[in-house]
Amino acid sequence: MQPAPTPCLSVGILVQCRPGFEPDASLELQAAARAARLEGCSVDVANSGFTLFQLNAPVAHDALRRRFDLSRLIFSRQACQLVGSIDDLPEKDRLSPLMDAITALGERFSALLLETPDTNDGKEQSGFLRRFGPLLDDALTQAGLLRTDSPHLPRLHVFLASPKRALLGISLASEGSAWPMGIPRLRMPKDAPSRSTLKLAEAIAGLLTEEEQRATLRPGLQAVDLGASPGGWTWQLVSRGLRVTAIDNGPMAPSVVATGLLEHLRVDGFTWKPRKPVEWMVCDMVEQPSRIAPLMAEWVASGRCRRSIFNLKLPMKRRYDEVERCRALIDQRMRAGNIKYTLRIKHLYHDREEVTCYLTRR
Ligand SMILES: C[S@@+](CC[C@H](N)C(=O)[O-])C[C@H]1O[C@@H](n2cnc3c(N)ncnc32)[C@H](O)[C@@H]1O
Repeated sequence: MQPAPTPCLSVGILVQCRPGFEPDASLELQAAARAARLEGCSVDVANSGFTLFQLNAPVAHDALRRRFDLSRLIFSRQACQLVGSIDDLPEKDRLSPLMDAITALGERFSALLLETPDTNDGKEQSGFLRRFGPLLDDALTQAGLLRTDSPHLPRLHVFLASPKRALLGISLASEGSAWPMGIPRLRMPKDAPSRSTLKLAEAIAGLLTEEEQRATLRPGLQAVDLGASPGGWTWQLVSRGLRVTAIDNGPMAPSVVATGLLEHLRVDGFTWKPRKPVEWMVCDMVEQPSRIAPLMAEWVASGRCRRSIFNLKLPMKRRYDEVERCRALIDQRMRAGNIKYTLRIKHLYHDREEVTCYLTRR
C-alpha cells in the first residue's frame, strides 16, 4: 500500500470519460491545467475510460478549486481532485485498507461515490460494487466520516480503476456529476419515438440548473426543433407543454403529432426563420460542426430564440480542437454583437461522436 497523502492535499485531477475519448479528455485537461498554471503530467491509457493529471507538487484542495474549475471540462463525465491511491488492494479484504486510507485523509464527506471505468473490465466489477457499496457506506458512517445531512461537505470518490487499484478523490456536488460515473439513470419514455430523446433529457438535467428548467421549460412557451424527425427531442418539449415547430423533411412520429402541440414544416433548417422570437431552439441536424456553431450563434445573437440546446457532431480525430474551433466561432459572433452569453458544453453519457451545448444570452 502506498503511504496516504498528507491531509487536505490534492495530488492530481481524475477525469472519467467515454472509453475511446481519453486523448480528447487528456488534451483538454492539460490545456486547462496550463491555463491554471498547474505543473504536472498527464497519464492516460487507451480505452481505459479515464485520464489523470498528476501534479508535480501537492496543492491544498481549496487552492486547487480556486484555480481549476472541474465543472467546465467537456470530455469529462465525472471529475474529482485526486487525494490518494492504493495500488495493491487484497482480494479478500478491501474494506480495511480503504478505510485506513480514507481515515488518513482527515476529511468528512457528504456522499460516497463508488465508481469504476465504463469499460467491459469495469462492468465486471459491478456485482462486487453492489455488495461492497453498502459495507463501505456503513463503515464510513460508523466512523463518523460520512455525513449525508451535510451537503456542504465534499463528496468522496472511490474509483476502482481495476480490482486491485483504488483512486481516492473528492469533489463538491457543484463540480462533478450528481450521478456515479456520470451515468444518468433515465428511463426510456413509453411514447417517445427515438432513443435520442434521452440525449435531450440528459442535456436538460445536466446542463441547466433546476431553476433554469422550471423557468424556461413550461407550458405555453414556444420552441423550434431543427432536424426534428422522428421526434425524440420534440417529445421532451411537448411533454413539458411547450408548442413546437418541427423542421425536417422526414416524418414526425404519430405519438408526437397526437399531442396537438406540433407544427411540422418540411423546410431547410439552415434558412428557415420564425416570424416571432421563440424561447427555445434545439438542433440535432447531422452537419459539420463549423456550419452548426455559427447558425446557433446567429439564432441567439439575433434574438430569434432566447436559448438553445444543440449537438456538435464530431466524427473527426481531433475532437477537442474542433470543439474549441466552434467555441471561437460562437464567441466571434457574440462579441460582434457585444452580447454577453453563457455557453456550456458537455460530452454527455448519451452522446457518442458528438457533444451537446447550451447557449443563451446572459
Ligand atoms: C439525428 S436526426 C434527428 C433526430 C431527432 N433529434 C430525434 O430525437 O428524433 C437528424 C435529422 O436532421 C435532419 N436534417 C439534416 N439536415 C437538415 C436540414 N438542412 N434541414 C432540416 N433538417 C435536416 C435529417 O432529416 C434528420 O431527420
